[in-house]
Amino acid sequence: MKNIVLFASGNGTNAENICVYFKSHPSIRVVALFCNNPQAGVIAKMKLHAIPVELFTKAELQDPNLLGKRIEAYAPDLIVLAGFLWLIPSYLVQQYPYRILNIHPALLPAFGGKGMYGMHVHNAVIEQGAKTHGITIHLVNERYDEGTYLFQQSFNVKADDTAATVAAKIAVLEMTHFPKVIEQHLLENT
Ligand code: GAR
Repeated sequence: MKNIVLFASGNGTNAENICVYFKSHPSIRVVALFCNNPQAGVIAKMKLHAIPVELFTKAELQDPNLLGKRIEAYAPDLIVLAGFLWLIPSYLVQQYPYRILNIHPALLPAFGGKGMYGMHVHNAVIEQGAKTHGITIHLVNERYDEGTYLFQQSFNVKADDTAATVAAKIAVLEMTHFPKVIEQHLLENT
């Protein structure tokens, strides 16, 4: 079996969708969720799916002997950031080359970087009158949203779209494509 370790900070819609997608998979399984936010909705969702939840602080994340060891215990073939908002430290990027994926709710390099997450992205898209919007799934490096892109899917922003309507369209794209890109990457590259 190939093991996925999830990282998430928020609601966990993507994390749950990934758990459901791989629940009966013959060769891939979700083995743990690492979460920096004890209030996050993702925690209850993971409990429903009997996925172990590992909470951690910013200081623990920076320490290879603390979080690094706790991640290693799950023997991940892939680490998946599903709405995770802190920068991944370089010791993890180096320890898991080509094996950390992130989803970003915009067509990178547009609307990326520190502070660009969730509704901040969709508000900016509408305020700046962007003509297209979409999702990017990419490898993670030491900088926010800058690793190699594996997948992008776009749509045209309509005159009557709002931040809420584009957010709903992004959610549909994320639910449809993220598990499949994870599966393909795991089967072809690990
Ligand atoms: C998702 O839209 C994901 O693309 C985004 O956070 C949301 C998490 O929602 N990630 C980022 O903005 C990363 N920069 P969820 O917790 O409901 O899956």
